[in-house]
Amino acid sequence: MEKAAVVIGLQWGDEGKGKIVDNLTEDFDVVVRFQGGNNAGHTVVANGKKIILHQVPSGILHKGKKCIIGNGVVIDPDVLLEEVTMLKENGFDVEPANFMVSNRAHVIMPYHKALDRAREESLGEKKIGTTCRGIGPCYSDKSARMGIRVAELLTPADAEGILQQNLREKNVLLRELYNKEGFSEQEMRDFLKRHAEWMRQYAVDCTEEISGLIKEGKKVLFEGAQGFMLDIDHGTYPFVTSSNTISGAVNTGTGIPASNMRIIGVVKAYTTRVGKGVFPTELNDETGALLREHGREFGATTGRPRRTGWLDIPLLRRAVHINNVSEIALTKVDVLSGIREIKICTDYVFNGEKGIPANPNNMNGVEPVYETLEGWSEDISNARSYGELPENARRYIKRIEELLKVRILTVSVGPSREQIIRLDE
Ligand code: GDP
Ligand code: IMO
Ligand code: MG
Repeated sequence: MEKAAVVIGLQWGDEGKGKIVDNLTEDFDVVVRFQGGNNAGHTVVANGKKIILHQVPSGILHKGKKCIIGNGVVIDPDVLLEEVTMLKENGFDVEPANFMVSNRAHVIMPYHKALDRAREESLGEKKIGTTCRGIGPCYSDKSARMGIRVAELLTPADAEGILQQNLREKNVLLRELYNKEGFSEQEMRDFLKRHAEWMRQYAVDCTEEISGLIKEGKKVLFEGAQGFMLDIDHGTYPFVTSSNTISGAVNTGTGIPASNMRIIGVVKAYTTRVGKGVFPTELNDETGALLREHGREFGATTGRPRRTGWLDIPLLRRAVHINNVSEIALTKVDVLSGIREIKICTDYVFNGEKGIPANPNNMNGVEPVYETLEGWSEDISNARSYGELPENARRYIKRIEELLKVRILTVSVGPSREQIIRLDE
């Protein structure tokens, strides 16, 4: 039986994970999200139609596949209902036979969103630049052992005590500290009741479900959200998200051991970042603007313009190591067409020393060391084989492979399904 696989973004998110998952889904039976929430925005362009998925695994666009939201995910029921409705309206099946939600996943409550927004507002210039979807506050409550899971949402009596405990704290924060409106217990009970009605049919023990499918010989694909540098432990803290985004999170986020899996790291051919935080290879010039324009670098969730810069090998090396990446999918190579000279950051220097500084706070002061490669002028969006790529594009790909010591087995040259090149055929 072919191995299970995990798709992980190796940068600051938006590497094109949705497109790569969509491309791989044909070869798998089950697609599973294991962390993050609707801070994710995964774009799939299928048959000329663009669909952005925030919570439902991207495999849902393929008939006959099972899609599961794991226990490590945080779920906003309002947004999930909207997404399920949108998918059904577009003719996709979202029935209990092919879509399931872990009853251990935590629920993003309206007060989580209010707190995320209020906290960001109050931080002013010091804000994180979150998606304001309530992700941080929801994961905080999970760690503080006062979260409401799908299981409690389905049994309001079980939620009652936790709800009271939460509102006692949240209303003080919202009203007294942030000068915002609080929430009533009745409002929250109604919210849970309204969503219990439709969510009940989808709720499962995801570990049992996925284990059972694996025993039947089904192939499982795990879909990461965000990216390595947004990982709460290994990323550019505090400008990170509130979950572990690395491949190891498959285990905690689904209950399935992450051993012996194919680990596909998705790398954008340059770097982007939304929100604040260190970005050593950032380009605040015309080339940066060109990348944003050519690559249509505007957030799939919030619409914010993405910051852009050159490829960052030091961070990618670390990403490859920590995630145990077995192969790379390189995306958006087409966006570099027409750029005369392409730079790759091969190392950092801090205080005269090479490498990633041991003290993470010194990341702000690193000087990138660049290597310059000649670009290519040809439009490559119609290339369907490696041989059709201009020599300089092939050189760029080979150089990345050399520097990272991992094979690039997929090259994406446009947003559509067919704009993809497999290198191992
Ligand atoms: P994700 O969050 O990693 O799934 O990525 P997003 O969907 O947020 O952002 C990637 C964007 O790039 C989307 O608009 C995709 O349609 C688009 N995209 C994906 N692959 C390619 C590619 O190879 N070339 C171009 N030009 N666009 C791509
Ligand atoms: P996908 O899955 C890019 C960023 C936010 C912010 C930080 C914290 O589409 O790649 P949060 O709302 O999670 O508390 O915000 O993380 N962020 C993302 N950036 N792509 C994402 O997801 C992101 N999800 C969160 O911009 O900087
Ligand atoms: Mg995205």
